[in-house]
Amino acid sequence: MNYRKLLQILLPSLLIAALAGADYSANKMYSFSPPSERLTPQERRGKQIYLKGKGSSSQEIVALLGKDNTEVPGSVLTCAGCHGRDGRGKPEGGITPSDITWPSLTKPYGVAHTGGRKHPPYTERFLKRAITLGIDPAGNRLHTAMPRYRMSLDDMADLVAYLKRLGRDPDPGLSETAIRVGAILPPSERFAEMGQAIKSTLAAYFDDLNRAGGVYNRRIELSFIEPVGSPEERTEQVRAFLDDTEVFALTSGFMAGADREIAALIEEKEIPLIGAFTLHPQISFPLNRYVFYIYAGLEDQGRALAAFAAKKIAKQNPPAAIIYPDDDASRKVAEAIKQQCQKSGWETVEEVAISEGQSVKEDFSHQAALLARNLSRKAVEVVFFLGPAGAESIFLREAQRLDWKPLVLVPGPLAGRDIFEAPMSFEGRIFLSFPTLPSDQTPDGVAQYRILAEAHKLQPKSLATQFTALSSAKLMVEGFKRAGKDVSREKLIEVLEGLYGFSTGLTPAVTYNPNRRVGAIGSHIVRVDLKAKSLAPASEWVELK
Ligand code: HEC
Repeated sequence: MNYRKLLQILLPSLLIAALAGADYSANKMYSFSPPSERLTPQERRGKQIYLKGKGSSSQEIVALLGKDNTEVPGSVLTCAGCHGRDGRGKPEGGITPSDITWPSLTKPYGVAHTGGRKHPPYTERFLKRAITLGIDPAGNRLHTAMPRYRMSLDDMADLVAYLKRLGRDPDPGLSETAIRVGAILPPSERFAEMGQAIKSTLAAYFDDLNRAGGVYNRRIELSFIEPVGSPEERTEQVRAFLDDTEVFALTSGFMAGADREIAALIEEKEIPLIGAFTLHPQISFPLNRYVFYIYAGLEDQGRALAAFAAKKIAKQNPPAAIIYPDDDASRKVAEAIKQQCQKSGWETVEEVAISEGQSVKEDFSHQAALLARNLSRKAVEVVFFLGPAGAESIFLREAQRLDWKPLVLVPGPLAGRDIFEAPMSFEGRIFLSFPTLPSDQTPDGVAQYRILAEAHKLQPKSLATQFTALSSAKLMVEGFKRAGKDVSREKLIEVLEGLYGFSTGLTPAVTYNPNRRVGAIGSHIVRVDLKAKSLAPASEWVELK
């Protein structure tokens, strides 16, 4: 083959490697599941049925229960719900669902169950009969806890095809000797320094971990993707990366600006992501099981500010106002604040949306005087200010002119330096929320970071970013350790859901559960000290339920 042809073939993969920042030469040393081990399309459809009770034919899957054949949607009684994702069965309430992996069902001399039931090996036909009629190959009736299922022939064929692969369906990115992990970096055109901080911190941490033997003798292999462009473009690049690189899990995902899109992609690909850079965790119902956030987003910070204000004002029903830029994300934050206010019995909470013009800040300076007059006339005592960005002082100067001094609450990540330019009459009246502060750091956590930083010559830049990346990686590795040698993506999610008050040493303690995907739901509240132009603690950590 001539040189040019070779280049043509190689170039696309080199480009992707460059884009992903992946170290392909290192990856070659480890064997990840070859394509022949991956599921066929039919097996994949069967897996959907096994996990979700949803087939691909128009006929719905129905589970029949008990003597009177009570009908329940298959999606409510999924096979995985009782037999486990891996088919080995989860004992519950004294009943043990059988191990239904194919090697167990087809033992050559048959199977003797602990309850005394015996039967010859299953065949495909017997398996279908067990699922539809609840009868084993010996003709024994199965325990009534095992539902009988009605589904189309096509769905049944898909399900049986998958059942033959059940338990031998290794998650991508996992081998005997390595776990491949990916990180989604911020777009370099705007966040070059941040991206560099994430990259070098993760590389340093996993390098140390690998030198110390990895996790259960598996090395952690790290690959990066640095997507650029619009949210859609970034999402497509992440998709290509995930299809190409086959990572087992993701950490330190930069999602800001494309939160919804990237979270949806991760859910679609069923890849756990531990630790994200975003102000807008996607935590609405139904829960996206795959994305684990560390910090509270703006909505929860808004709620924490409202809870703090209610305590501080300690009045029946003070008139309050929420000023926010008229966009989707801000509207949601305003809504969360309003709901929290209502919980405290505050009924008069006015929402003031500032519509977007060419320059929101400039438009706002025209509106600010009018707005301040309006709200002061209504004797508003509490103002939540979500933007326009960097316009707090414009508004507060107008307020001062009217000799109106409401309590002002701003989610910290939205406050600009401008906040220190507020009139002195607001001394002690302005409060900010932060999802983490240096006071969260433990001596151990800091010492560990110092050792890492020294050994790997980490720059003392973007420290908050480094700490978040490091905490994300630590959380993921904690998950790997707890999941054990037989780690799977599903097991990783399960053990993370069991984390309670876990200390990363650099962030607030982290707690997850099956319905909770934000590790630290709450905020620190700090007072803006206008004289010293600094911030001072204003309360204990505000924990939200
Ligand atoms: C509500 C819990 C539950 C659900 C849902 C469930 N099973 Fe079962 N299954 C059981 C129990 C319990 C047994 C053991 C019955 C016994 O020992 O008599 C069993 C037995 C079986 C057996 C018989 C194996 C043997 O020991 O002879 C097969 C096959 C099976 N299940 C497949 C499935 C499939 C496929 C699905 C989904 C379409 C499913 N089960 C859904 C609880 C369940």
